[in-house]
Amino acid sequence: MASESLSRIVTRRIPFDFPQDVKPHWIPDKPELAHLWNGASMTMPYLEPFLIRTMREALKQVQDPVVHADGEAFISQEGQHYRVHRRFNDQLIASGGYTELAAVEAQMEVFYAKLSTRSLGCRLAFSAGFESMTMGMTRWLIGERCKLFKDADPRVVSFVLWHMVEETEHKTVAFDVYQTLYGNYWQRMFGVLHGSYGVLNFGVRACVLMLKKDGLWKGWRSRWKFFAQGVTAVRHIGPYLLRAMLPWHDPRAERDLEWVREWLARFPADVADGSIPMVDTRDPLMPVPSMTVKSNEVSYGT
Ligand SMILES: [Fe+2]
Ligand SMILES: [Fe+2]
Repeated sequence: MASESLSRIVTRRIPFDFPQDVKPHWIPDKPELAHLWNGASMTMPYLEPFLIRTMREALKQVQDPVVHADGEAFISQEGQHYRVHRRFNDQLIASGGYTELAAVEAQMEVFYAKLSTRSLGCRLAFSAGFESMTMGMTRWLIGERCKLFKDADPRVVSFVLWHMVEETEHKTVAFDVYQTLYGNYWQRMFGVLHGSYGVLNFGVRACVLMLKKDGLWKGWRSRWKFFAQGVTAVRHIGPYLLRAMLPWHDPRAERDLEWVREWLARFPADVADGSIPMVDTRDPLMPVPSMTVKSNEVSYGT
């Protein structure tokens, strides 16, 4: 499509694969942190299709060709994200036997169906708000990667970091579309809280369910670790949310991490040969992958 060439946002169809030996506790000695991500992942096949539907509807009214092209690219990237999350989640549920998560998935169905009946302005503000939260997530997960993911399963870590990198790549899109069509400060500000709630509420519910199933919710030590991780997450994400709520907020003003810029420079186009930019979690610096590998060439914990 002619309009797509106006966007610098790239759709990478990376075939992340989660075979049966990918475990729910994919970070050594940090099941609470693994489940925090697992819980967030559970929300993506509900949240991201909602973002796509909202963007698709909004683009019918967008005249600016660059904003329009970025919106198309946003749809394409988010489409890749939620499909990989669906594969990851299916393996997670099968591997951990977390059948109870079906209840949270049903709650998300209802939540997003209801949200879909709200005005386009409200839904776009929700989308832009959620996208601003992901900037804080990125700062936390990529900035602290060596501490958080040391010796973790590289197949999951590479997937997590890829998603965060691409969230950075399209960080301005929902905001630009909202500003182009509405530009109402109070609605956009409320969207920051609303969009964050949409993922945190269900993500935490899913996380607690999995911890309970694993018998980790009984002990004070595990609960303390869970809350400590939560506080750390809020400490990293909070400043982004506060800045996103300012009247003069512009996501362009948020400086991207060097690791993100390097990843994007190294993989500026689709990784067309069906291989994966695999992060070496045993390297103390956990650098940007210098090469891609086929998923079946990677093993972990054997
Ligand atoms: Fe995404
Ligand atoms: Fe996104």
